[in-house]
Amino acid sequence: MSYKDLNDAETTWDTKVQQYHGGQEWLILDHFVEDFSVTTNALGTPQIALKAARDALDFCHHYPPANQEPAKTDLSKFIWPEDYELIHSRILLGNGASELIDLVTRSAKPGPWRPGPWIVQYKEYERSASSLGRDILKYNDKTTKAALTCIVNPNNPTGDYMNIEEMKSYIEKTVPENSTVMVDESMQPWHSEKWQQDSLISQSKWIKEIFETKGIAIYIMHSWTKIWSCTGLRIGSVICPTTEHCQDLKKIQVPWSVNVCALKFLEVVTSDAESKYMKKTWEITTNWRSDFRKKILDLKPKDQDWVIEGKPFISWVWIDFKDKNVAADAVIRARAAGVPVRPGVNGYGCDTCVRAAVRSPALADVLIKSWIGLGQR
Ligand SMILES: Cc1ncc(COP(=O)(O)O)c(C=O)c1O
Repeated sequence: MSYKDLNDAETTWDTKVQQYHGGQEWLILDHFVEDFSVTTNALGTPQIALKAARDALDFCHHYPPANQEPAKTDLSKFIWPEDYELIHSRILLGNGASELIDLVTRSAKPGPWRPGPWIVQYKEYERSASSLGRDILKYNDKTTKAALTCIVNPNNPTGDYMNIEEMKSYIEKTVPENSTVMVDESMQPWHSEKWQQDSLISQSKWIKEIFETKGIAIYIMHSWTKIWSCTGLRIGSVICPTTEHCQDLKKIQVPWSVNVCALKFLEVVTSDAESKYMKKTWEITTNWRSDFRKKILDLKPKDQDWVIEGKPFISWVWIDFKDKNVAADAVIRARAAGVPVRPGVNGYGCDTCVRAAVRSPALADVLIKSWIGLGQR
């Protein structure tokens, strides 16, 4: 198959009006083994929470609670156990982060949109902004004032990361007064057992101050569909700068957007019943990723320069093969072996790159096997 065929390959996205995302090929591959094209947790879905979500179907003849409780309280306690009320008064759940990204984009003041500091980032923020008629600025535009800045940290797909002091300083230096910022921390819980300490979650006081003194409204966005591997269930949350901002979002949110199964899942996944899951995630992800990264780089022919950067704790590798034909071949081989990866060319326009999720060593070996001889001329 040629590079052109790769772009023409069957896709379920209507890319004229929708943004390409990974996670669709499992539906169309004959010999599907495992999905490497999404950044979900290598441990798979937490089983006790999954059972609870299944059981919740017995209540599908009832509406979900309009106040999203008790799941909202449980998530707030998971996010900030020290003082959950600080979070609870400002958090809203959504049908995946995607719904909330769109809500904040709608509610922010009109004006240009700018991404975070990296050359490429998760595209749904840009799609929403451009569909709503906002001008799209470049990541390094220092002259035009953005009304809405969206930063993804850790950054999907590149794996770049700003620690909490770097993040605060970046916002203070680059974000205009009286504007809105969304910081997507969906991949941040992988950081470590102390993830909250390096996150904006720990900065409620600073967030309040920056809003009061400079009018900068900071929203912290989480997609929970990755860390708990439940992309089909659709669970996201946004922590608003103030209770009033949260009310403004609620006003434009479609009622019952989070269904009974997702709410029940959230209740159980944040409870003691699933406390081992996060511990295990921190234990295995970095090790499996380091092993996977090494095995990929061991396949590199001597005359080539493949690069895999990004923070060691993240749940994927972003491979730059530095050659678009090699990247295309990697995608095609993976697809043929039933282990689809995410082509960097689609949406991101990074034609020499491929993103592959961290998976167990046994599954990773299926992908590695399909790449033996990759790049050899
Ligand atoms: C960084 C990031 N944010 C948000 C989302 C949206 O996720 P969802 O709508 O499934 O919660 C994704 C999905 O890939 C993502 O990678």
